[in-house]
Amino acid sequence: MAQNIYDNPEFHAGYSTLGRQVHGLDGAAEWPEMRALLPEVSGARVLDLGCGFGWFARWAAERGAHSVLGVDVSSKMLERAQEDTEAASVRYQQLDLDEFVPASSSFDVAFSSLAFHYVRDLDRLLSATAGSLAAGGALVFSVEHPIYSAPSTQAFETSQAGDRVWPLDNYLAEGERVTSWFVDGVVKRHRTVATYVNAVINAGFVLDRMVEFGASTEQAQAHPERADDVHRPWFLLLKATRSGAAR
Ligand SMILES: C[S@@+](CC[C@H](N)C(=O)[O-])C[C@H]1O[C@@H](n2cnc3c(N)ncnc32)[C@H](O)[C@@H]1O
Repeated sequence: MAQNIYDNPEFHAGYSTLGRQVHGLDGAAEWPEMRALLPEVSGARVLDLGCGFGWFARWAAERGAHSVLGVDVSSKMLERAQEDTEAASVRYQQLDLDEFVPASSSFDVAFSSLAFHYVRDLDRLLSATAGSLAAGGALVFSVEHPIYSAPSTQAFETSQAGDRVWPLDNYLAEGERVTSWFVDGVVKRHRTVATYVNAVINAGFVLDRMVEFGASTEQAQAHPERADDVHRPWFLLLKATRSGAAR
């Protein structure tokens, strides 16, 4: 059973203050790169796995998606998603991604932003997602980058020489990471880059593109709050296509 930390009142209150949740997709630093990975959504049947407040679901509906299904385990996230959504083409469903069994060939685009690192059985979910896509359908997702999720202490240190250092340990030790983020005891799952890539391929996708999202020197100069992102990637973004004839 999923931890469902997003329904914890203290966690939820803190999470709701993040720029990406106040300003939506434009408040998410990686959104321009995620968007560049996305195929045309106009006319598509779109699935949003771990949809949160529904920012992407509404974006897809505004761009003419035929239908959007947003799924999430958190009733608090879905409550707000429903309140903020007027489009009749969008619907939400509460469920645990570890138990999700979508109907076969029922979507053209599957999207997920920062939810897969909570999922216990990624192979199962990706395989179910591949089956839910029409041939030629696209999967675009982001997760915390494995270099970010690996360490036992996820915080920069300053070396004696004054350099900012990300303390990478336990990279190859995959599995649960219990972190403090708004509250203690937030459970996420660390996987290596190879595990993510191979899970995508094993599920029957062709990998199209991978982005290690951090910050260039120029971006860090323009956004000093992101200066540390020059030293290690923050998110891993992948785009894959379901094998088979184009739809
Ligand atoms: C970091 S938030 C991202 C929300 C949204 N995708 C966004 O980018 O704004 C992660 C979301 O995944 C959901 N989530 C985590 N574990 C889940 C699970 N096992 N099943 C379904 N949803 C889950 C959380 O409830 C939360 O809404």
